[in-house]
Amino acid sequence: MYKVDLHTHILPPQWPDLAHEWGDDRWVTMTQTSPCCATLMCQGKTFREIDSNCWDPQRRIEECDQTGVDVQVLSTVPVMFSYWADADKTSKLARLLNDHIAQVVQDFPKRFIGLGTVPLQDTNRAISELEHCVAELGLAGIQIGTHVNGLNLDDESIFPFLEAAASMNAAIFVHPWDMLGASRMEKYWLRWLVGMPAETALAMCSLIFSGVLDRLPQLRIAFAHGGGSFPGLIGRVEHGFHVRPDLCAINDCKDPRSYLQRLYVDSLVHDPSALNSLIQLFGCDRIALGSDYPFPLGEARPGTVIDSLPELTSVQRGRMMAGTALEFLGIESTHTVAKEFQATCKA
Ligand code: CO
Repeated sequence: MYKVDLHTHILPPQWPDLAHEWGDDRWVTMTQTSPCCATLMCQGKTFREIDSNCWDPQRRIEECDQTGVDVQVLSTVPVMFSYWADADKTSKLARLLNDHIAQVVQDFPKRFIGLGTVPLQDTNRAISELEHCVAELGLAGIQIGTHVNGLNLDDESIFPFLEAAASMNAAIFVHPWDMLGASRMEKYWLRWLVGMPAETALAMCSLIFSGVLDRLPQLRIAFAHGGGSFPGLIGRVEHGFHVRPDLCAINDCKDPRSYLQRLYVDSLVHDPSALNSLIQLFGCDRIALGSDYPFPLGEARPGTVIDSLPELTSVQRGRMMAGTALEFLGIESTHTVAKEFQATCKA
């Protein structure tokens, strides 16, 4: 079955030592420690040890072939968002990352689709980079964080960017980063296990209650990790909307549940019953295979949990494995990947 993995991360094989160049150790640096390994450093500490599958497209393709993935959707590693910095500098980094992703896509157009990154702390610069990504690089959209320096995604400063994305037919993939309550989550990998899903739920609620989704009916927006904590909160959120409209419905939004069919989520929930309830809530048409490749909190063999649900029809399975992602990304029927997908559907 044809598989498009919506949620994978990639870095360039190298980039300038910005921490040194710009005199701030919050810029992420990469030091290769052997042909297959490198260390990402941030604020003087090891952020993550990575393998060459983080930067080597050939190795990624070999691993995809082993795990039955036809296409990876590439986005940067969220630590690279750098929304905290001077926007001019973040723009330069975003350009470097976006041009790299576009080059990988151009080298292997049957295997990769690209999402860019933008300096979202500066709306005008973010829109300029969005235009570069879409018009010049041919990327399918932009990966953004769940907030921008503490501003939720319903902030009016972010609206023009989302509006521009909708008008340019660019998909928006929301990935949690810079997790809320981080000082209380220093142990047990809690920033990733609890903070990330909470971030995503907050981003989804902000967009729903703000009425942004009503103002931008054309916007295609997806959320990582199956929408994080959001699916588990939907009953509470809906109840709150009904009992305290004075607090929840101040922007004339509709019942929160009614927006589920407007949103996309990836399938990365690591649990068959959780995926089942995601399907009950959103429907297979809104769920796209996502693995978080090449990182350990991802699904090592993408699609394993989807495959573990025996009651799915092959149409539902095919939709989650590829169809949803291609629709979300706005991949046209003339695109190389769409043709490959159609060919496998007919076979
Ligand atoms: Co991820």
